[in-house]
Amino acid sequence: MASEPGLRIEQRPLSDRARSRFPALRDAPGTVFFDNAAGAQVPEEVLDAIREHLLRRNVQRGGRYDRSQAVEAMLGEARERVASFLNAQSPQETSFGLNSTSLIRMIAECTRPQLRAGDEVVVTELDHEANIGPWLRLEASGVKARFWKIRNPGARLETGDLEELLRSGRVRLVAMPLASNATGGVVDVAAASRLARKAGATTFVDAVHFAPHGRIDVQELGADFLAFSGYKIFGPHMGFLWGRLDALRELKPAREFFIPADPPYAFEAGTQTYEGIAGMLGAMRYLASLDAEGSLPRAMDRIRSDERGLSEALLTALADVRGLTILGESDPGRAEARVPTVSFAISGFDPARIVEHLASRGIQARDGHLYAPRLLEASGIDPKTGLARVSLCHYNTREEIEKLREALHALSSRNT
Ligand SMILES: Cc1ncc(COP(=O)(O)O)c(C=O)c1O
Repeated sequence: MASEPGLRIEQRPLSDRARSRFPALRDAPGTVFFDNAAGAQVPEEVLDAIREHLLRRNVQRGGRYDRSQAVEAMLGEARERVASFLNAQSPQETSFGLNSTSLIRMIAECTRPQLRAGDEVVVTELDHEANIGPWLRLEASGVKARFWKIRNPGARLETGDLEELLRSGRVRLVAMPLASNATGGVVDVAAASRLARKAGATTFVDAVHFAPHGRIDVQELGADFLAFSGYKIFGPHMGFLWGRLDALRELKPAREFFIPADPPYAFEAGTQTYEGIAGMLGAMRYLASLDAEGSLPRAMDRIRSDERGLSEALLTALADVRGLTILGESDPGRAEARVPTVSFAISGFDPARIVEHLASRGIQARDGHLYAPRLLEASGIDPKTGLARVSLCHYNTREEIEKLREALHALSSRNT
């Protein structure tokens, strides 16, 4: 009996508890923020942590005085938190950086000296260009890039197609996404990593889009490297790199004498944005607080299960709009295969006009190539026109989805 009220609280949508902690959402009640894939809002914890850092400890690490030692302790705690967010084996496996693009670029360039002419790297048609371009540039050293193509309909990556590519016996690295920032589709990275490892290839995972939507367990994924960005997971603008310790140690990033040769510092160029890292610690605290006992993995599982309901509601609402087609999985019954990010077209309407129409009704979304022009081309969509995209996260609500449905109905009925 005593557990009943608690149970009822757990069954309420997370958004009921979460929204009031985000000043940007709280202070703009009429606005629907559906552009989370481009960067999420931040909770009070993040603002407090940044303010606290800049007010009380805005000094360089490594000094022999208390405030400097407090900076060192904060950096250590943040590294530990990020490691537990990923279930890394050790905090030493996680490095801080500017953003994911620069971290992916750094790993690609560190990989270059290890590759020989004729070696192959596999990139996917599903990725954001940040996880394609840096690997394609290895072709200047005689490396061959091969595309793991999507299967339509559904813009899916089939593991069997990777198996086919790996048969050449020359693939040294596979770069892939954990989820697509255009289709919202989740990729079976664990299966792909197993195949790659068997074929002697290392794996690089772009987890930027998946990270706000669920638990990442790098040990279960079995990959070698992974990157994600703070500003997509309710924190400040910065990036994170994870690598298996022995895989990191094989790489030799450029470094000045004052930068230690061992991970994680070998991968951190100069002074980091301490206030950003403090803010990230705040974001991790916020996420953990979504679980009654403060467990970060359980909180991320809760987000994932709540968002399944949002995906179902969103896909059901969109199915109701005449002339609307979705890129990727559109079946509300298969919401477990995606996160609540949906890109779509409405016949007879330019995506830019769709998004302007939504903006006029207080719904903030996005349009364009979504930095995935190869995916759009492979799906028969002109990247110059692109698609409209709505991207939701745990603080969004079914009422907001209903507003979207009404707005799109109003637009599509103009076409009669
Ligand atoms: C899937 C994906 N990968 C990579 C990036 C690039 O991340 P960053 O802006 O941190 O460089 C983005 C940014 O939107 C993204 O959505």
